[in-house]
Amino acid sequence: MTVFPKKYQFCLTFQSFPTFLTFQTFALTLSTKYVQINSLKAKALGGTVMSRKLLLGLDIGSSSIKLCQLAETGTGLKLVKFDQCMLPPKAIVDGALIDYRAVVEKLRETARLNKCEGAQCAISMSGHNVIVKQISIPEMTQKELEESMQWEAEQYIPFDIKDVNVDVQILNPKAGYGQMKVLFVVAKKDTINDYIHAVQEAGLRPVVVDIDTLAVQNAFDLNYGCPPNEVVALINVGASCININVISNGITTFTRDISNGGLLMTEETMKQLNVSWEEAMHYQIAGDDTVSDSGTELFREVRKLEERVSEILVTEIQRSLDFFAATTINADIARIYLSGGASQPSAFIRALERRLKIPVEIINPFKNISVDPSAFNPDLLRTMEPIAAVAVGLARRFKGDTRIGGNDVRINLCPSDTKSSRYSLGNPFKLPISVRIPFTKRVLTLS
Ligand SMILES: Nc1ncnc2c1ncn2[C@@H]1O[C@H](COP(=O)(O)OP(=O)(O)OP(=O)(O)O)[C@@H](O)[C@H]1O
Ligand SMILES: [Mg+2]
Repeated sequence: MTVFPKKYQFCLTFQSFPTFLTFQTFALTLSTKYVQINSLKAKALGGTVMSRKLLLGLDIGSSSIKLCQLAETGTGLKLVKFDQCMLPPKAIVDGALIDYRAVVEKLRETARLNKCEGAQCAISMSGHNVIVKQISIPEMTQKELEESMQWEAEQYIPFDIKDVNVDVQILNPKAGYGQMKVLFVVAKKDTINDYIHAVQEAGLRPVVVDIDTLAVQNAFDLNYGCPPNEVVALINVGASCININVISNGITTFTRDISNGGLLMTEETMKQLNVSWEEAMHYQIAGDDTVSDSGTELFREVRKLEERVSEILVTEIQRSLDFFAATTINADIARIYLSGGASQPSAFIRALERRLKIPVEIINPFKNISVDPSAFNPDLLRTMEPIAAVAVGLARRFKGDTRIGGNDVRINLCPSDTKSSRYSLGNPFKLPISVRIPFTKRVLTLS
């Protein structure tokens, strides 16, 4: 399913090279003014970072790609683009790009449909390729920490340090007894490079590599604010991975990725009802509405399957939260906030509430983002809310960002040569000069 803006773009063509140069100079002057205005705005917003041009958030999930772009306005964030593009079955398995070409083609198509070819973007990783550790170490400055992070990380990871990219963030600079709390994030170099190459080959420019768990946390922080005196669990249930993140007093205290998700329901439906992948997905996504109309045997079968699969997924989540409770003081979780496509079936939510005895709520990642109803169909966007959390969290990032206060986390696992200004200037003669009229309507297409 694809939701894309109907934008009108007038590309100017030039009869002669001097005319072109004059126009190019004019465009560069305009863009310099734009940067100046932007940096003034950033200062007015209390930021210390000069440029606040937000990145394109690109969530490359195993079932679909989600794309989100936000813009900073004087009054907050505004939704500029949101789109979803389905991937073929098994294109991504266990976080690995098995069908590399298909992923590149879908990325390229999504970028083209949304007119954001060449955009700088933030992507993310999840699953067993990623390790997150919260640890206490002696107090030091951010610079000292960055210098020693390879050595520090080496003690906590089961991989050779040469095979991974590491980033670190101070969570609490004064945790007591001369210690501070830091968050280490580590991911396999090979996997990161595969994703980066695929995105680059599709014509986009990744400058931030985050992880799904923290992207959800950033989306949650933006819309709900991490509660200061409470323990909450953010659970993102995707097609093949469940990301758990327990936040205590606004700080990540426990994370776990479980290799399971909505794919189990798709595969069980295919097997038990002897239907194709597409039909199984249809039953799963259309859910109660489509199948209940018939009130048939099929309806009962799908419901039963949903309940059985929900019990399996909830058992795995419960096991992780039991481990958290057994190893943590003050482990009473006040509320669970759900995101991810596979968190939606009512059987899953019921099972979670019954087994864990904790209130559950599905998050709306667009809650604090202004959305123009004439640009985005509100009903359509509402159906996208659960799957949009990671993409929204990524779309909050900007190039060279650091923690800006609050409970957001700004991890970047991108190799430093890709993070750097290698792309910042580009080829001036290739700059497209375009005048854009704001879009007025979004259309829904099937891809
Ligand atoms: N309305 C719905 N009801 C039930 N399941 C749904 C619904 N919408 C999507 N799903 C299921 O959710 C999954 C997709 O969710 P999501 O887009 O969050 O996953 P992903 O990001 O592609 O995967 P992952 O992050 O695990 O690699 C699929 O298994 C899909 O069948
Ligand atoms: Mg996902």
